[in-house]
Amino acid sequence: MNEYQYRAGRILEKINQLASISEDENCITRTFGTEKFMEGADKVLEWMKAAGLNSRIDNIGNVRGKLLCNNPSAKTFVIASHIDTVVNAGKFDGPLGVIMGLDLIEHLRQSKITLPFHIELIAFSDEEGVRFHTTYLGSKVIAGSFEKDLLEKKDSAGITLEKAIVNIGGDINKLFDDAIEEKDWLGYFEIHIEQGPVLYEKNIPVAVVDSISAQRRVEIILKGVAGHAGTVPMSMRNDALTCAAEFILMVERLAVENDLVATVGRLNIAHPATNVIPGEVVFSLDLRSANEDILSSCYHTIKKNCDAICAGRNIGIEWKLVQETKSTSCDQSMKELLVRAIRGAGYEPLLLASGAGHDAVAISKVSPVAMLFVRCFKGISHNPGENVELDDIAQAIGVCNNFISQLINQNNS
Ligand code: GLV
Ligand code: MN
Ligand code: MN
Repeated sequence: MNEYQYRAGRILEKINQLASISEDENCITRTFGTEKFMEGADKVLEWMKAAGLNSRIDNIGNVRGKLLCNNPSAKTFVIASHIDTVVNAGKFDGPLGVIMGLDLIEHLRQSKITLPFHIELIAFSDEEGVRFHTTYLGSKVIAGSFEKDLLEKKDSAGITLEKAIVNIGGDINKLFDDAIEEKDWLGYFEIHIEQGPVLYEKNIPVAVVDSISAQRRVEIILKGVAGHAGTVPMSMRNDALTCAAEFILMVERLAVENDLVATVGRLNIAHPATNVIPGEVVFSLDLRSANEDILSSCYHTIKKNCDAICAGRNIGIEWKLVQETKSTSCDQSMKELLVRAIRGAGYEPLLLASGAGHDAVAISKVSPVAMLFVRCFKGISHNPGENVELDDIAQAIGVCNNFISQLINQNNS
């Protein structure tokens, strides 16, 4: 076993430990601000402290550890990913980047190399947006772009984000103090599983992320009339669920015909029962495209078609755009360093666009960003079947070592 494989083994042990901390004993779920989420955050804090980093949990629940260089006015290079998960998640989406970052920084510290910049490792507290249906809460705080009105958002139990922050020991008046000022950023680097099948199909362990798709998320409420399933004739119903079904199939057709991915991933029927015609449904719509113009024109077509479907079925509609992010380009100069780092590790570099959203989107408002994708089994993600081979983590460590060494040399010269 070579040194990188040994390190990959230690990374996998930590990923497994974190995965064992879950809100549900039958699967992995750690959503923002829950008791199990905080237990996970405390575990990561313990690891950062053991690695000798100057560590703390900030007011939004991000776990942060600093390795300072000798120059107090030097800029900061951030290595980060997230430790919240979707419901019934895999164990690599997020934690791989955090724990690989920890390994890289631990080795830099042990090598006693003189750093020309500070390094901060961050485990973001909310990338998935599961609990409050809005993403990047942790990275928005770091970027100084956290919108105060987010504090009023409620989870499914009616708890506001403000209350959830207070419950984890955060102070909502200090969220802006946790930001890293724009002038202090050197750059941002995130290692993440690809979450798609390209690397698996091409049999390559890593790729450079070129850009991240634009995205819109909508919450839609359809209001019909609840009624008796046995007595109301089909022609006299205002069924909110069949209206939603027509809408969902229309969205699928439109996405297939355009360069767009569209998903209705959450749908709740109000007061569901076998013998009741659904009177109200609430569901999410997630739209993404690398092409902002296509995203925008499809969004407007979907909205127009939705109005027509609802009018035809006499169903009321509430349409709330809850998130909108533009497409994000990764930094050209760091992409070139990563390309060289991959060549140095003996692989042909591949550049990929990311359909998945990442904290790099929020951070790109204040810093150049770079990302490295690591192959995952058949591209499976947001699924307990998510897997990454030890050898691929070992290869990724080699690439990241090359990348960080080049970055240090560049900033020393
Ligand atoms: C995060 O995983 C997202 O792309 O939704
Ligand atoms: Mn995810
Ligand atoms: Mn992720």
